[in-house]
Amino acid sequence: AGLHAIARAAGKLYLGTATDNNELTNTQYTAILEAPNMFGQITAENSMKWDATEPEQGVFTFTLADQIANLATSHGQLLRGHNCVWHQQLPSWVTAGNFNANQLTSIIQNHCGTLVGRYAGRVCTYSWDVVNEPLNDDGSFRSDVFFNTLGENYIPIALRTAKAADPHAKVYINDFNIEGLGAKATAMKNLVRTLKSQGVPIDGIGLQSHFIVGEVPTTLVQNMQEFVALGVEVAITELDIRMTLPETAALLEQQKQDYQTVISACQAVQGCVGITLWDFTDKFSFIPSTFPGQGAACPWDQNLVRKPAFDGIVAGF
Ligand code: XIL
Repeated sequence: AGLHAIARAAGKLYLGTATDNNELTNTQYTAILEAPNMFGQITAENSMKWDATEPEQGVFTFTLADQIANLATSHGQLLRGHNCVWHQQLPSWVTAGNFNANQLTSIIQNHCGTLVGRYAGRVCTYSWDVVNEPLNDDGSFRSDVFFNTLGENYIPIALRTAKAADPHAKVYINDFNIEGLGAKATAMKNLVRTLKSQGVPIDGIGLQSHFIVGEVPTTLVQNMQEFVALGVEVAITELDIRMTLPETAALLEQQKQDYQTVISACQAVQGCVGITLWDFTDKFSFIPSTFPGQGAACPWDQNLVRKPAFDGIVAGF
């Protein structure tokens, strides 16, 4: 059976994957992406980001983003929108614009409202990563163009705008290194509390989960439970588990265990709604280009053949 079918049978809403437009011409790849019940959810790996969707101020380009949304629709998959506000992959007019607080507020509202509004009301649209990576590892706010101009206010501005543009979509904050207990996770919980106390819409926290073989945090379950206790859902949004290359049988076996650990942690927490792989094959994984010398992070290998990690996912449910 497909991974999504197994996840559904285990009570989760979906098991999904990130995908990118340039990968869709590879028919070996699309055969797996579109296999019945393999992936019940997709995330655009790049094509809904700010540089792709509003490359010039007020000029929106949705061709690639629409292709991903239409793929979800035609295969009955859910869509996680990714993302509205992030410090990376911004067009230079945003970073170099020297906008004052009022101007940047309008810019965020126009961007998030137009982007989220584009896919509002469609059956596929489940959630949006409205704010991506707002925190530093020590729990302080990341100093990017948004924080430096608006302070932490940019977060409620973006969340309120996204919710207004699509009241049916779950609005998320998504980050890495918040999967286990620690300063950054604590800061994210404090942020959730603050937003809730101010009546700001916040439905979910995305745990990116870009892990390292043998180093999966041991406090996943407790940490997720603490988020859920605050009145939000959680999702594993960008799962991959990388290793220092070359891959060995021992590393692949540990990776299998690690995938199982992550899946079973989500399985143990009712408020963990689903899991998204940050693409399913080593052929298209972003890891080797971002972490030189590392890779082999996905459950399918370079040749689109299943690895032990695939069985680890199955075993985790
Ligand atoms: C990555 C993509 O996978 C790459 O193709 C791109 O070059 C850079 O961005 N956290 C996120 C994702 O939220 O958007 C990032 O995706 C990976 C880290």
